Amino acid sequence: MEIRIFDTPAQCGNACATLIAAQIIKKEDSILGLATGSTPIPTYNRLVEMYQQGIIDFSKCRSFNLDEYVGIPEDHPCSYHRFMRDNLFDRVNIDIANTHVPNGNASDLQKETSSYDKAIIDAGGIDVQLLGIGRNGHIGFNEPGEKFITPCHEVTLTESTIEANKRFFDSENDVPRKAVSLGIGAIMRARCVVLVATGKDKAQAIHDTVKGEITPDVQASILQAHPNAILFIDKEAASML
Ligand code: GLP
Repeated sequence: MEIRIFDTPAQCGNACATLIAAQIIKKEDSILGLATGSTPIPTYNRLVEMYQQGIIDFSKCRSFNLDEYVGIPEDHPCSYHRFMRDNLFDRVNIDIANTHVPNGNASDLQKETSSYDKAIIDAGGIDVQLLGIGRNGHIGFNEPGEKFITPCHEVTLTESTIEANKRFFDSENDVPRKAVSLGIGAIMRARCVVLVATGKDKAQAIHDTVKGEITPDVQASILQAHPNAILFIDKEAASML
């Protein structure tokens, strides 16, 4: 695991965006694994700038998002479909038909999750997977548990995640209790994984991810076993290393 430490979240975002841009320049039809949350926003802002400056072209890229809540409409202000349109898809020239976000409203979630995994494999696998991290060490919505779940799956969110994510909703009661998440398998199969973490409230999770044992209690710790995982963290998130 390679660790790059920066002074500010903006610097983390710039560096992470540069890595993703390099991937797109190297391979114009790259398969991008994308993440939501507040942490990747500086990365997306920088990617949009690079697109506007003519440095990168998304027209041949395809993307697969990590996760989505179950049971809220796609146009809900807190849905990850909405987040991706607002922060990236509607701001660059990616073909919306080439973007994929799990359907948390599918009538058959089992079918949805297995076809989502298959679509990634059929696309040739993810070239670069962007990740944030939860305060409890989750990646995507892979919550602490007894094992690493490999396939895309339905998840029951933990209290810690509901508490952390309530800031986006009107109240804690409005936070969905379930989600669909890419499993650890697709994340580990990505040819490159970039995890961004900023702020003091991520310091413990980053410590456990980097210095702890590999354990499903800290799902991100599996990245120690990834051959090409890079952490972009600010000095606050690095403060316990
Ligand atoms: C959510 C998402 C994760 C994200 C995490 C951290 O739970 N499912 O993919 O990494 O939030 O979010 P933030 O970056 O806002 O702290």
